[in-house]
Amino acid sequence: MNDTTRAGDPGRVLRAVQISSLGTYVPPRVLTNSQLEQMVDTSNEWILKRTGIRERHIADDDVATSDLAVEAALQAMAGAGVTAADIGFLVVGTTTPDTFFPSTACLVQDRIGATHAWGFDLGAACSGFTYAVTTAMQMVASGVHDHALAIGADVMSRIIDYQDRTTCVIFGDGAGAVVVSPAVDPELRILDFAHEVDGSGGPALRMPAGGSRLPASHETVDQRLHYVHQDGAAVFKFAVRKTSEICRRILDRNGLRAADVDLFVSHQANRRIIMAAAGQLHLPEEKVVINIDRFGNTTGATIPLALADALADKRLKKGDLVLLASVGAGFTVGAMLVRWAY
Ligand code: COA
Repeated sequence: MNDTTRAGDPGRVLRAVQISSLGTYVPPRVLTNSQLEQMVDTSNEWILKRTGIRERHIADDDVATSDLAVEAALQAMAGAGVTAADIGFLVVGTTTPDTFFPSTACLVQDRIGATHAWGFDLGAACSGFTYAVTTAMQMVASGVHDHALAIGADVMSRIIDYQDRTTCVIFGDGAGAVVVSPAVDPELRILDFAHEVDGSGGPALRMPAGGSRLPASHETVDQRLHYVHQDGAAVFKFAVRKTSEICRRILDRNGLRAADVDLFVSHQANRRIIMAAAGQLHLPEEKVVINIDRFGNTTGATIPLALADALADKRLKKGDLVLLASVGAGFTVGAMLVRWAY
């Protein structure tokens, strides 16, 4: 136990845990706003102005979530200098598993050859990555495992109705993975997490059919119920309010101010949501990572994709204080504070 332990704190650590590396993958095929103009009644101007998205990556028909997750996981393991045999636990945050069962985590475990690992899928929609990192962190913090993989991966294009202009312009496909390990320098670690759910918001963002409530039938297919349905305005308002609320909470309880944050990496659902939340937190634009223009909303993958861009651009450096935030279907809400370790 080190001196960072704080009793009664949900972010308490038995041993400090770091994010050791990051891997990402997006399928090569790009769907631009102009191509969407040919598919539904929309325009590049509307999409760009209302969401900030220019293009998104879309998986080919024979590519599933585990395929993207495996690529991201392999990259993350290589970056951390660990082999598949070193991984004790893996968790995949996904809304679009390859199948109900076996879990995507099992498929990934087999494909990467993580013969000593166990794991499972985690359903937290757009908070999939923050919740997966938190779950993996506990496995390492407790001393049960030395290296764990947290993955956020989604092929949203499989559950998007490309006849519905209110949803099809928003989403894209992608994956991100991190290896979490005991902190080398106890100062450079995952500092805290703050998560909450509000199940009363369920109806605002959901896929109505395909589960035990409404199994697949000719009627559910005819009624297009196997696609994402959302009340965009309700999700928008909730996301802005809760992103700033949860961030303020996690900063406050760590005795930090917005000025202490080096980088704000929020789930990329809509540029306007991110900027509104950042504004409420008094975070200047230069501290906000936005790459929704190139990827759209990739659900479980947005935060690692944004972190990867920040690393590539050298906006994210060792020792930086990073504030992660997510809001997703459920509703799920999450925030993490990370003192970046590499
Ligand atoms: N192209 C052109 N017009 C569109 C359009 C599109 N792709 N989608 C909607 N519109 C129209 C609407 O039909 C509406 O027309 P009307 O005024 O004639 O009825 C008008 O644009 C304004 O619609 P509105 O829903 O008010 O737009 P908005 O500015 O709120 O943007 C979203 C819509 C969906 C982009 C926005 O609400 C949003 O991002 N919500 C959050 C969604 C989200 O993040 N989901 C995932 C959460 S993890």
